[in-house]
Amino acid sequence: MIDFHAHILYGLDDGAENLEQSLMLIDSLKKQGVDTIVAAPHFYFNNITEDGFFAFREQALCKIREAESDVKVIPACEVYISKSFPYTDFQRYQVANTGYILVELPHRTSLSKHIYDILLNIINVHGLTPIVAHCERYPAVLSKPGIIAELIEIGCLIQLNTSSLFIGALKNLALKMLACDQVHVIGTDCHNDRRMPIYQDAVNLIRERFGTEKLNRLHRNMELLLEGRRIEVVKPKKIKRVFRFYL
Ligand SMILES: [Fe+2]
Repeated sequence: MIDFHAHILYGLDDGAENLEQSLMLIDSLKKQGVDTIVAAPHFYFNNITEDGFFAFREQALCKIREAESDVKVIPACEVYISKSFPYTDFQRYQVANTGYILVELPHRTSLSKHIYDILLNIINVHGLTPIVAHCERYPAVLSKPGIIAELIEIGCLIQLNTSSLFIGALKNLALKMLACDQVHVIGTDCHNDRRMPIYQDAVNLIRERFGTEKLNRLHRNMELLLEGRRIEVVKPKKIKRVFRFYL
């Protein structure tokens, strides 16, 4: 099984702080049935140079691969697309060389035109497909969940955090997104001993609520994406929010 979003690479962000913590997170994921991890440290273009970031990432990746050979670790990054993010060459940010790029959007109450323009630039100019990290967590999406369908319509894919299925404020939307096929990949977004991975419980919940077929489709999607192949995307219907319910 694949965890498509984890901060297991140490020393790069607010995830694992050292090799020991990296291995502790990997061990927890292994015990939950995960054999492939997309390692996606935050990349904030204001905080570090690209060259510095990729050098640190390579260093952490090598050390982890030396110490742990049962699990496949795929290099990626979670690129924060802020209001001031430059139009840059996005190729280096890909999940391995798959043509997919994991992006984090601003945690604000609305998404500006600039954000959509950057996403369209990634798609149309660079030929990459953005995967929107933990789409259910953004305040803009929680209040206007129709945004998810808009993002899919312009060519983005959607990643759900497995932990959101167990967080009161996010659970209803997370379940609705799964019901409407508006989730393409899942990830734990685990960081450290305070944000440990919750994978097996989420997999069980998805199987119980939606059946094995939906779960298998998610796994198949993730396998295909890591092979750089396309997945089937269901034409999205806009989810509406009425009070705290998602319809
Ligand atoms: Fe993350």
